[in-house]
Amino acid sequence: MLNRRQLLRRGAALGLLVAAPAGLIVAGRPSRAEAATAPFTVPLAVPKRLRPTRLPGHDLYRLQTREGDATILPGTRTRIRGFNGVLAPLIVAHRDRPVLVELSNELADPFALHLHGGHVPVRSDGHPRDQIRPGGRRSYYYPNTQRASTLWMHDHTHHAHAENIYRGLSATYLLTDRFEEALPLPKGQYDVVLQLRDAKFDDNGAFVYDMHKPEDRPTILVNGRPKPYFEVAARKYRLRLVNTANERGFFLRLNDGTQGGAELVQIATDGGLLPAPAPTGALALWPGERNEIVVDFSRYPVGTKLVLENLAAFEGETPEVMRFDVVRTAPDASSVPATLRPVPDLGTAQVRREFHVAFDPASGQHLINGKPFDINRIDIRPRLDVTEVWTIRNSDTLGIPHSLHPHLEHFRVVSRDGRAPAPGEAGLKDTITVMAGQSAEIMLRFTDYTGPYMYHCHMLGHQMMGMMGQMEIVK
Ligand code: C2O
Ligand code: CU
Ligand code: CU
Repeated sequence: MLNRRQLLRRGAALGLLVAAPAGLIVAGRPSRAEAATAPFTVPLAVPKRLRPTRLPGHDLYRLQTREGDATILPGTRTRIRGFNGVLAPLIVAHRDRPVLVELSNELADPFALHLHGGHVPVRSDGHPRDQIRPGGRRSYYYPNTQRASTLWMHDHTHHAHAENIYRGLSATYLLTDRFEEALPLPKGQYDVVLQLRDAKFDDNGAFVYDMHKPEDRPTILVNGRPKPYFEVAARKYRLRLVNTANERGFFLRLNDGTQGGAELVQIATDGGLLPAPAPTGALALWPGERNEIVVDFSRYPVGTKLVLENLAAFEGETPEVMRFDVVRTAPDASSVPATLRPVPDLGTAQVRREFHVAFDPASGQHLINGKPFDINRIDIRPRLDVTEVWTIRNSDTLGIPHSLHPHLEHFRVVSRDGRAPAPGEAGLKDTITVMAGQSAEIMLRFTDYTGPYMYHCHMLGHQMMGMMGQMEIVK
């Protein structure tokens, strides 16, 4: 069994973890309201499922983006921005059953809805040119022709999205299909979405957003609740972990008192099920990424409390994320099959591209191939149905990790620093994080839709400071 230091070293070796350049990142000081909030005093909120109107050809969701008030830290009220004014709601969609979202923007700022990981026509992708002005509305059409996976919906206006997401404009979009439903994995109340993020609150419990202080966000929220506890039955659960933080990476383990932590059986990543389950003691989750695990709580007697910890917590922070309290027994007919879902054949590479990602200290911007984002520039023109291999090189001289997230299509990780991807990255992904000095190769093929789509670093502060490009998919 590995201890914390060994786990961290292994994570770093896999290119999965922050290697902070000059020592550790030091956290900011909690405010009074934050300091008064003890961990595990608030129950987990299981995401509220939004109910569609069922029409003959599709499910219709009428959503509003608006402000609302929520109790996040006990005894305080927080002004949030949310879909229908709530934090972290859930849409459940089914493959081949399209979803139409009619969105009215009741914020004082423009808004653009993006389905992260969605295979959608360009007019529904939330391109920054297609922003909805305050008081305006727009329809988004999601065909749902892709395989089952955990997607998320968030703002994509240029310049405002990082703050909008920070203030709550983030929903989980769970896409299911027959293939996945036929597997004996935990279902129903035993299949739980956990949106992880960090935040900073002032003394009165209001959100504080400072783009330049990502290290000063000491409160960890799960589904909008601070370090909650979750009462579970002594059986298997499927946990869908979604990192909706602006910039924080998590390196998660479930502390069960053993050195290596509880066994986390990873079954899925951004683009759905892995080819085979990948058991591990610790799991990286970078902004924009989704990783799904099955945890078997029947290994622990009723009364056991297990803390989910972030091994990559900053210096001065404590590692707790949330706690699982085993409170009852329950029957369990679920299991994790030895094979899950093969990765589709993406063909052989006909085009190769390189993406150098780095912060530029001279201009104070984050750049891709030496350039900041320009909405009037098309950076690359991939052809429909042509397989490409992209090399992402993080040449950051300050040691900052960066990611690349192309819209529209999932990719396969070919290699990291020339080595085969870890089993947990062997499925389809849409966001890959690369440590400074390291590189990764991904393979992808754009299908079905043409037009201008974005690719960018999913550290939202970096994306705002230039780390985004535009690709026009052409015939
Ligand atoms: Cu999470 Cu451009 O998206
Ligand atoms: Cu996206
Ligand atoms: Cu970046």
